[in-house]
Amino acid sequence: MVCRCKLHMPYGMIPLESLVFALAEVMDSGPNNPLVAHQLKVSYICRILGRELGFKGKDLEDITIAGSLHDIGIITFSDKLKVLKEDEEALSRHTTLGYQILKNFSYFANIAKPILYHHTPWKILQRETSYDTAIKANIIYFADKIEVRTRKLQNILFHVPEIIGEFRNKKEAFAPEIIDAFLKVAEKDIFWERLEYFKKETEIAFQSYTTLIPDTELKHIARLFSILIDVKSPFTRIHSKGVAYIARWLGEEYGFKDKTLDHLEISGYLHDIGKLVVPEHILNKPARLTPEEWAVMRVHPFSTFRTLEQIPHLTTITKWAAQHHERLDGKGYPARLTGKDLSLGSRIVAVADITTAILEDRPYRKGMTPEQARQVLQDLSGTGIDETIGKTVIENIDYAKHLIQQAQEDREHIFEEIGLTF
Ligand SMILES: [Fe+2]
Ligand SMILES: [Fe+2]
Ligand SMILES: [Fe+2]
Repeated sequence: MVCRCKLHMPYGMIPLESLVFALAEVMDSGPNNPLVAHQLKVSYICRILGRELGFKGKDLEDITIAGSLHDIGIITFSDKLKVLKEDEEALSRHTTLGYQILKNFSYFANIAKPILYHHTPWKILQRETSYDTAIKANIIYFADKIEVRTRKLQNILFHVPEIIGEFRNKKEAFAPEIIDAFLKVAEKDIFWERLEYFKKETEIAFQSYTTLIPDTELKHIARLFSILIDVKSPFTRIHSKGVAYIARWLGEEYGFKDKTLDHLEISGYLHDIGKLVVPEHILNKPARLTPEEWAVMRVHPFSTFRTLEQIPHLTTITKWAAQHHERLDGKGYPARLTGKDLSLGSRIVAVADITTAILEDRPYRKGMTPEQARQVLQDLSGTGIDETIGKTVIENIDYAKHLIQQAQEDREHIFEEIGLTF
């Protein structure tokens, strides 16, 4: 078996599961997040039930990944709440969107259909699709319900008999073989005790899987993640894409080549992944943030760092992405780095971020005109941002605007494809 630790991972290969784990974890974090830790717990339950049902190899891997990403179609915290309350429209929207997002990515194509049906009761489901899809979808549904039922319980073992009693009779919702598998695993204390340590469990399980992605494919997955980041707020719906395009262009201007250009672009796609932990009422606020809200918002670049640093071979991208709010004069965040600490890549991503932000509409103002944007960049040059890179953008502000328009058109095309409306 290939050793999966960071040191021994074959160069240029990234384990799919480390990307999945990182995304599931950050999607299910943050203050006021109604579904904290939900997907990784569901993933653990899916894997145990799958194993009990005789799943092996790729099937077991798929059900574990599907559990980790099953709610990928829930974009906002308020939608998470609606799904928890079983709002019909939110249920149908997140399953359809999850399916649409995943189906075109070869690595996730197998799990798209089970995710589409993960809230459909067995009685209906078995008539609608193949057995293979139906049983996987129904395992996710079952695991989801167990997680929701137990998520707030203290001293879980005390409640087990009651939970078993409830689920053994849910014959319309779940396949008889899933209920049987559950009854077998649920009588062992260790099943519930391990659920409390779901992160460790899922981490260990993921280490035994073998899907390695060449880093040339990473850009496609980063692009997928960036959609989830951007659509959380209607005001940032193209932001990461804009930053990716501008960072790539600046990289070309400053002599970056091939792979490192891709890395700049990927840093753009992922720089705000930490925003997934920020509640949307803060992201969308049409006025200045209160000190309390600002304290929540300011955490996002460090969340980006925590999320990306778990993925092998992403050291440079992690740095470039997570340092996008640092400033040359040491007044940035989260680490108050200064010019001597900031590499050219980090400086480029920071300028790309500011340029995109000032040219796009925000909740509290319209996108700036080229003249206003030039002025802002000029004022920041040498203190906030790198003077030379700033100058490149100032002299080519119309081109920067063109790239953002391009990002907008490309993104609208994807929105149309996945059926996402605002
Ligand atoms: Fe769901
Ligand atoms: Fe769920
Ligand atoms: Fe940011």
